[in-house]
Amino acid sequence: MKTLQTKVAIIGSGPSGLLLGQLLHKQGIDNIIIERSSAQHVQDRIRAGILEQGFVELLQQAGCEQRLEQEGLVHHGIYISVEGKKTHVNLTKLTDGKVVTCYGQTEVTRDLMQARQASAQTSFYSAPVNQIHNSPQSKARVCFEMDGEPYQIECDFIAGCDGYHGVSRPSIPQDIRTEYERIYPFGWLGLLADTPPVCDELIYCKHSRGFALASQRSETRSRYYLQVANSEKVEEWSDERFWQELKLRLPAEEAAKLQTGPSIEKSIAPLRSFVCEPMQHNNLFLVGDAAHIVPPTGAKGLNLAASDVAALYQVLSAYYAGQPRQVVEQYSDVCLRRVWNAERFSWWMTSMLHHFGEEHEDKRSFVEKMADSELEFYLHSESGMKLIAEQYVGLPYEQIKSVESEVKPHAVQVNS
Ligand code: APR
Ligand code: PHB
Repeated sequence: MKTLQTKVAIIGSGPSGLLLGQLLHKQGIDNIIIERSSAQHVQDRIRAGILEQGFVELLQQAGCEQRLEQEGLVHHGIYISVEGKKTHVNLTKLTDGKVVTCYGQTEVTRDLMQARQASAQTSFYSAPVNQIHNSPQSKARVCFEMDGEPYQIECDFIAGCDGYHGVSRPSIPQDIRTEYERIYPFGWLGLLADTPPVCDELIYCKHSRGFALASQRSETRSRYYLQVANSEKVEEWSDERFWQELKLRLPAEEAAKLQTGPSIEKSIAPLRSFVCEPMQHNNLFLVGDAAHIVPPTGAKGLNLAASDVAALYQVLSAYYAGQPRQVVEQYSDVCLRRVWNAERFSWWMTSMLHHFGEEHEDKRSFVEKMADSELEFYLHSESGMKLIAEQYVGLPYEQIKSVESEVKPHAVQVNS
């Protein structure tokens, strides 16, 4: 078996792993990425597309902001439509100047992969990790296979950036892990098309036929979503059927000017809320989807991955700058405070905007009438809209606390 050494072994080459790898590299902290899929497969994934300002700043810190600054669409507000009546939530006005940027995760991944290739850091693709050794008494080890050959990486720390279906979370003993989950009784049918967006900002549509979202990737590429029952199959949705249903859920003005066209991509994603506590154990840190999942209604999935990376990058930089190992122990608590806040916002947006009754059933339940009333209250009050705006643009990242070394001033403690 071939053995390699590094400081930080990163499992997964999604946004979490790639962003962490680039930031650590900028700090001179050696790391290796191990990814089970091919680079092309990772690159071809179609995912979300709203970046909080904190994420944009991290990409600037990673030296990967060029294309984002040229092609990213800065948005100052969103629309929330209730049975066709639009309310504008002026994000910038309500948050003293903050914005969000529309830029596909596919593009973020491409920029980060190009930066990693240019930095000549070590990455293994088509290399599934099959074992993690993570005891407090010895060096951590990550075992993987590539081209039928076994490899192992000895490291100080393991970053589990391997998503919801990865190996990192299950490697934490069950008696230490607590998992919280809510599965929603519907999914999102997403369609990508090279058609001009129907509106210059996003429209979140609450409708008795079901939720719809009008989003975008550029001035010529649109992204739309329809709430569908979990029993629906994407094969049952022709482009024509999709466009017809979307028009029924959009406000009349947008429905009238909607430009349709052939889909580039069409798929159904289930909706769930999920959190694993704690997000670290011994020398392993869970990052992004490996630790938590949010329904996409709040546009938080990618942004939570970024705030986890920000926290991990800070504690690892502090450790390798000479602070005691204790400095990394704050990672999980720092992340979970922000994770639970984003989980609540994403659950709230999903609960307010989706149709929970039987499909196309007009009779509303008491719970749905409560949601109707709560959303009305928020959209008709400045303070209510301010609360939505503050959450949507993203709360400030929490800074980690320095840990003073207990070593006497005359001795210099340097972590190798
Ligand atoms: N060995 C190596 N790599 C693995 C393994 C394994 N055993 N298991 C999973 N992976 C890889 C996956 O192939 C994937 O490329 O880990 C990566 C995890 O990436 P994501 O699932 O994208 O998770 P993350 O990087 O945290 O990004 C979260 O991506 O899926 C979206 O909605 C999500 O926007 C959010 C963002
Ligand atoms: C997207 O553009 O894919 C998108 C935007 C906002 C969301 C979810 C998805 O809340």
